[in-house]
Amino acid sequence: MKSAIAVRRAKGIARQTVLLFTCSVLLIGCGKTVSTDNPTPTSATANTIPIGIAFAQTSNVALLGQEGTDGVKIAEKYFNNKGGINGKPIKLIFQDTGGDEVGTVNAFQTLINQNKVVGIIGPTLSQQAFSADPIAERNQVPVIGASNTAKGIPEIGDYVARVSSSVAVVAPYAVKAALKQNPNIKRVAVFYAQNDAFNKSETEIFQKTVKDLGLDLVTVQKFQTTDTDFQTQASSAINLKPDLAIISGLAVDGGNLVKQLRELGYKGIIIGGNGFNTSHIFSVCKALCEGVIIAQAYSPEYKSEINTAFRQAYFEQYRREPPQVSAQAFAALQVYVEALQSLDKKSKINQLSLPQLRKELNQEILKGTYQTPLGEIAFTPVGDVIQKEFYVAQLKMEPNGVKGKFAFLTVK
Ligand code: ALA
Repeated sequence: MKSAIAVRRAKGIARQTVLLFTCSVLLIGCGKTVSTDNPTPTSATANTIPIGIAFAQTSNVALLGQEGTDGVKIAEKYFNNKGGINGKPIKLIFQDTGGDEVGTVNAFQTLINQNKVVGIIGPTLSQQAFSADPIAERNQVPVIGASNTAKGIPEIGDYVARVSSSVAVVAPYAVKAALKQNPNIKRVAVFYAQNDAFNKSETEIFQKTVKDLGLDLVTVQKFQTTDTDFQTQASSAINLKPDLAIISGLAVDGGNLVKQLRELGYKGIIIGGNGFNTSHIFSVCKALCEGVIIAQAYSPEYKSEINTAFRQAYFEQYRREPPQVSAQAFAALQVYVEALQSLDKKSKINQLSLPQLRKELNQEILKGTYQTPLGEIAFTPVGDVIQKEFYVAQLKMEPNGVKGKFAFLTVK
């Protein structure tokens, strides 16, 4: 059971979304279903077991959404080749959320009511999760966030869990790595996207880490994820002579801010938050991405049977190392598969009604321990991921600025 505060908070959020929810009902049918497989409405799991995927396939958030899609597709193939759920395959049903809350609410509604999925993975952004997850909660449908890192996500409700470690856990690693590279860092400029829930949550952690480490927070500059011109914020910060800049934004806005900071002459270390955690950022800041430090909840180098299989499958398809969000999305589907397998052994899932199956699956998810590409994970009673290993990477760009890589640093 979740705490009374968590439940009250979830209820508050649910109330805020009533208007959005009402609008979305009118819009159902506008969402784009990529998979046309039509699970039978009379039985939860006739021939295949439908699992809903609510990622951004369009909008500026699609850069991150695509990485989630890549991860779950590899997992679907991998686990079905291994026999699915005790012989029955899983089937992913995709609904495009777009980049906003209304699109996400639509996607959740369609997955729950029309596609009759047993559970949902998504959405891409925490900002979207705060609006859409309460709908799954009310309908008693499990949701596993694969990239939602803001504070308060699992507390949305009993049916909400995540495999994406909170900013509170991951972000401080980047600051420690920057100090290791330059122990003389003293003056820190922080930038964050004020219109996005995860970035607001992440900057609080960065700012607290800076103060806890005895550094001077010389300025806090705000922007929007839709901004393209950062001259004002970058110039104001540079005038204060910082030796570390920390940015919480998404890939396009964050990448443009890095570019403009460098063009205006900033020479110190730059840390990017979790929104920078995609190779799509290379095409935004190009050669000027060089050296940006980003904490990681996944390393392709992690030695385990499942990570070797995942890394190889990803590499064969995309000819590059898998990014964090793809690994987290793989892990989210793995949690569903293994929880369904375990549930099926106890109470045959094809004999459960859909509401029963969703309810029992939700309980089963929280009980398990999973050996994933992220390492061993489990869940707290509230549904937050328990993960042991974290990493820090630094962007290394080829001189032409077209190609780059995440080079992993030694942080211990
Ligand atoms: N980690 C980002 C979020 O939670 C994508 O919104």
